[in-house]
Amino acid sequence: MDVRPIGFFDSGLGGASVLREAIRMLPHENYIYYGDDANAPYGDRDYADIANLTIASMEKLARLGIKAAVIACNTATATCIDRLRARFDFPIVSIEPAIKPACEAGGNGKVLMLATAATARLPRYRQLLSRMVEPERVISVPCPGLVERIEDGVLAADGFDDILYKHLAFLEGETVDAIVMGCTHYVFIKDAFERYAAIHFNGRAKLFDGNEATVRQLGRVLKENGIENGSGSALIDYRTSGDRLKLEPVFLSLINRL
Ligand code: DGL
Repeated sequence: MDVRPIGFFDSGLGGASVLREAIRMLPHENYIYYGDDANAPYGDRDYADIANLTIASMEKLARLGIKAAVIACNTATATCIDRLRARFDFPIVSIEPAIKPACEAGGNGKVLMLATAATARLPRYRQLLSRMVEPERVISVPCPGLVERIEDGVLAADGFDDILYKHLAFLEGETVDAIVMGCTHYVFIKDAFERYAAIHFNGRAKLFDGNEATVRQLGRVLKENGIENGSGSALIDYRTSGDRLKLEPVFLSLINRL
């Protein structure tokens, strides 16, 4: 029995989509969520900046006595996961875009991987992509603008048509089998992707995210290290570098909403 909390980190509110899954799958654990909202979005920053901000945020979580951490941010994972693992002595689980299950789900159409500009460019993601059987099926599209709007609390299915059209118009009428939500924020706006796909793409695109796989891995890591908490119901401690009064109600509605 280890009651120490698990630290969840994201640049902002997106990691709440992974935390929600953790509360469902590992209900006896305690959690501290830290969003670096004052500095979000990370996706348009340069790599040194993203790494420095991520390390500083993780130092804060480390000081709170966490037993393990989840980097619930594809951008931070792709930028500096190896540095984080070298620096901290607790186990760190990370998320990456779910292109593997999306590619293996069949079909001959395109697999769209939507992510921040940083994730789509970074070598860690490019290597993951090169390991796919047909990497040419995967079209990686950076989608700046989505994270800011989600951080503002917009979640409506028709609230993103303009941004999506701007980034995806070049695929008008294409057959799209899968859309990978390669940013944890995007999981909150599944309806917006489904709406866009129904209007602008051919076929019925299936949506994929890495949240469940990440939490499964967290469960394995807790077990392997003998640091599981066997009973009790999840306590959730929310922290942010941003405007807590504005963000906490949004955070609470997000973890209760999925
Ligand atoms: N939620 C983050 C991700 O999964 C990044 C959002 C951002 O700060 O740009 O990539």
